[in-house]
Amino acid sequence: VRLKNERHQLIQSYGYPIQVHEIVTEDGYILQTFRIPYGKRTNTSKPRHPVLLVPGMGCTSIVYLAMGPDRGSIGFMLADEGFDVWLANCRGTKWSKKHKTLDPVRDKKLFFDFSFQEVGLYDITANIDYILNATNFKQLFYIGISQGTTDFFLMAAAKPEYNEKVTLAIALAPVAYCSNVQHPLTSFIKRRFKQVKATADNMGVYEILSESSVSSLFVRAYVDIFCKEYSSIKFICTTPVYLMGEFDYNYNKSAVPVIFSEMPSTISMKTVYHYTQMALSGQFEMYDDGITGNLRKYGQTTTPQLNISKITTPVALYCGPNDRFSTRADVELLALELPNLVKKVYVGDYGHVDFAIARNAASMVYDDIIETMKNCSNKTAIS
Ligand SMILES: *[C@@H]1O[C@H](CO)[C@@H](O)[C@H](O)[C@H]1NC(C)=O
Ligand SMILES: *[C@@H]1O[C@H](CO)[C@@H](O)[C@H](O)[C@H]1NC(C)=O
Ligand SMILES: *[C@@H]1O[C@H](CO)[C@@H](O)[C@H](O)[C@H]1NC(C)=O
Ligand SMILES: *[C@@H]1O[C@H](CO)[C@@H](O)[C@H](O)[C@H]1NC(C)=O
Ligand SMILES: *[C@@H]1O[C@H](CO)[C@@H](O)[C@H](O)[C@H]1NC(C)=O
Ligand SMILES: *[C@@H]1O[C@H](CO)[C@@H](O)[C@H](O)[C@H]1NC(C)=O
Repeated sequence: VRLKNERHQLIQSYGYPIQVHEIVTEDGYILQTFRIPYGKRTNTSKPRHPVLLVPGMGCTSIVYLAMGPDRGSIGFMLADEGFDVWLANCRGTKWSKKHKTLDPVRDKKLFFDFSFQEVGLYDITANIDYILNATNFKQLFYIGISQGTTDFFLMAAAKPEYNEKVTLAIALAPVAYCSNVQHPLTSFIKRRFKQVKATADNMGVYEILSESSVSSLFVRAYVDIFCKEYSSIKFICTTPVYLMGEFDYNYNKSAVPVIFSEMPSTISMKTVYHYTQMALSGQFEMYDDGITGNLRKYGQTTTPQLNISKITTPVALYCGPNDRFSTRADVELLALELPNLVKKVYVGDYGHVDFAIARNAASMVYDDIIETMKNCSNKTAIS
């Protein structure tokens, strides 16, 4: 456990204080979590309730900052509202591509042998324990987007003792059940799951879109060329966003280059397989490792199911009616089973990425989130 000197330029450039914390997980991954301990105008000695923000698949925590301060991004808004903001970077992504013994290139098969299951069981728990110890709080707020919500639901169902450590979980574009996902890319993988996996394994492909990979460089070069502020053909820069599942145009186009300056930031193939497995089975469940693998890992031949009713933390769901990854049908199933659902809001005409980069997110979503958190904060003994 040590504080590093490296500073993230984006956060600093806006004049906010930043700390970088190195957190080591039980299974040896070395993660970097960014902390904005207070806002520009909120440096009082009043205790600040910690909030952990967890990004989605292939994203770094910069998704929570890409629209800048002054009622742009939720990360800065929370700091300005008096929260102690912790931004997680999950294993394998740009800021957390380190392990005590494994090398991400030389040992790629072992290093990338994880899905949201390991992120939830190890990365999120390590972040929560570290933050509660560092701040002397008994509970923190959790905010997740997309996979960041799956990480939470999995952790809370599989390690129910962590429910007590979270005051309230805010789930943006929530994903637990996912059999109704509608994106063309995912239907392709669903139809050819076995082939896709066999081909990737044969070729030694265990991760995609890492910083130096050709696909990732291409996306970045593309955005660089087409998304410059003065470009007259700026609309083309929305194509990568379209590929991420968006049809609509709420998002802040100036935030797109910021997003793609760091992202896409590595997706383990196992994450894709695990989501595909759940899309095919219609269940919220652990990774299916085959009969012998399951026996070794879980002590049973079948795939262990995750029980949503074990998630006793209060949960608020924010969903997009036009979200093709977090669909209404799947969200409704989840909402029915959550024992402590605080609210379920369908926001405007939102799609999947709008929760991070919509121009009007502050007034459409973030204000409500912050008020909901403060309401909850008032009800709980916080420290
Ligand atoms: C904010 O407050 C902390 C603790 O009281 C102090 O150490 C720090 O220097 C202050 N920062 C600024 C920018 O005033
Ligand atoms: C859009 O994003 C840019 C770049 O981060 C930011 O400067 C601007 O304030 C944002 N606009 C809105 C309306 O949030
Ligand atoms: C808890 O925090 C203290 C400092 O606040 C630190 O010295 C200690 O190592 C931390 N313990 C763990 C388990 O992280
Ligand atoms: C799920 O958990 C609840 C509460 O702990 C329990 O009552 C129920 O039987 C469980 N369901 C399954 C299928 O295990
Ligand atoms: C906060 O609590 C007040 C009083 O119970 C309620 O009227 C208000 O709607 C709540 N705000 C949110 C965003 O849930
Ligand atoms: C929470 O409590 C404080 C003081 O007790 C009060 O000023 C504030 O309005 C309350 N916030 C909400 C959202 O109810």
